[in-house]
Amino acid sequence: MRVIRNPQKLSKILAVTRHKRRSIGFVPTMGALHLGHLSLIKKANKENNIVVVSIFVNPKQFGPKEDFKKYPRQLKKDLAFCRASAVDFVFLPSDKMMYPEGYSTFVNVEGLSAVLCGASRPGHFRGVATIVAKLLNIICPDALYLGQKDAQQAIILKKMVKDLNFPTDVKVIPTVRQKNGLALSSRNAYLDKKQASDAVVLSKALSMARSLFESGARDSARIISRMRKLINKKQQAKVDYISIVDLERLEKVKKINRDCLVALAVRFGNTRLIDNTVINYA
Ligand code: PAJ
Repeated sequence: MRVIRNPQKLSKILAVTRHKRRSIGFVPTMGALHLGHLSLIKKANKENNIVVVSIFVNPKQFGPKEDFKKYPRQLKKDLAFCRASAVDFVFLPSDKMMYPEGYSTFVNVEGLSAVLCGASRPGHFRGVATIVAKLLNIICPDALYLGQKDAQQAIILKKMVKDLNFPTDVKVIPTVRQKNGLALSSRNAYLDKKQASDAVVLSKALSMARSLFESGARDSARIISRMRKLINKKQQAKVDYISIVDLERLEKVKKINRDCLVALAVRFGNTRLIDNTVINYA
């Protein structure tokens, strides 16, 4: 495994890889790696000759009052994790290399970036789209691996790849959960014991939405209100949003009559967690 910090150097090395007709799978991350990241790395390994993982806590996707400073950074552990997971290259750029002074170019996927998490985190998806566009230009992978855990991010990045003609396949990998249902997330590290056990209610609420749908419920408002009630039973839980939207435009669906995304964001203390499930209509 090689750790590379310089973007030009990585581009040069990977140009040789491509010249040898070896396929490149790319997994972008912000580090604090866990089994969710591992499932992306495994899939990338299975489907490609070479796997590149980037570790970069991207300042441009954090709001001024968000957790950029305290975001978990554990480089040594992450590098050992990547080595054990048969990663070929870890790309580890500095903030300055990605955003030198005077940096002024941004990618904004309009519409999709303004709803759900975009409504509570203005500028977040502009930061995500910008860094992923830059990483795609540096790495030129055959395939980009993303997690369904961040469903809106995956939908936005798919749209960006299509709109900007990146010659890359986008693969979305199912959410990895703890046995109790809690979706793995680097931010789970912020939770105390009580919050971590209370947060299991999120996956329970999503399962409830699926069961209600399976037993005939189609009215989104009713399903959402049942979910909200369940989540509000946990004293520390503060619902940011619960929405049922279509999978292409992320527009609210009143009556479920097609495949839908049930997405939620809930705060436990200062920690904002997200989760989602897809309801297959057919
Ligand atoms: P990060 O939160 O580190 O996540 C990196 C990738 O891992 C994302 O595609 C995310 O959806 C996926 N992932 C996280 N938890 C998962 C889980 N429990 N199961 C499956 N996949 C999971 O998402 C980001 O970083 C950043 O926004 C990034 C795309 C790197 C841009 O900065």
